[in-house]
Amino acid sequence: MRWRTRCLIAAGSVVGCALLAASVGAQSLLEFDLWMQRIEKRSLSMQRSLQRQDAPTSIADAREMLELYQRMQQYFVDRGESGSAVELSAQGRELIAKVIESAGSANYAVALQSAIALANDCRDCHEEYKPL
Ligand code: HEC
Repeated sequence: MRWRTRCLIAAGSVVGCALLAASVGAQSLLEFDLWMQRIEKRSLSMQRSLQRQDAPTSIADAREMLELYQRMQQYFVDRGESGSAVELSAQGRELIAKVIESAGSANYAVALQSAIALANDCRDCHEEYKPL
């Protein structure tokens, strides 16, 4: 909101407005990177806890993943992303829901399969959206 006001005051200075707008974008990108780091940490923890058949930890990991994937999906929706990012986020949420359901009924093989499928999908999105 604040950068808009400053933009109006600086009317005529197109460059100033563009710079302010860019810095707002960078802020949410920074936040996005923090989500990604948490996604990576939780994804690895979830796989490890499923391997040792630790339902409570794997479900806690999956719950946080679900929340992060929801935010990620919204981030791409808000940006009007028309490519596969929104779809990959939604697909990821389905896999995470499957982990929660399977781990909850001690079906660790199916849960682990879903967790691995989820981890394999990271690359699909990165190939298309992650800058080098
Ligand atoms: C729907 C798209 C999408 C999915 C799915 C996705 N990522 Fe990402 N990820 C991105 C984008 C876009 C970036 C680059 C953000 C940027 O420009 O800094 C990124 C960046 C990252 C980074 C680098 C963050 C940093 O600090 O620079 C890590 C680590 C990462 N992802 C891990 C994962 C893991 C692990 C998974 C799967 C469990 C995953 N991502 C799934 C889109 C995705």
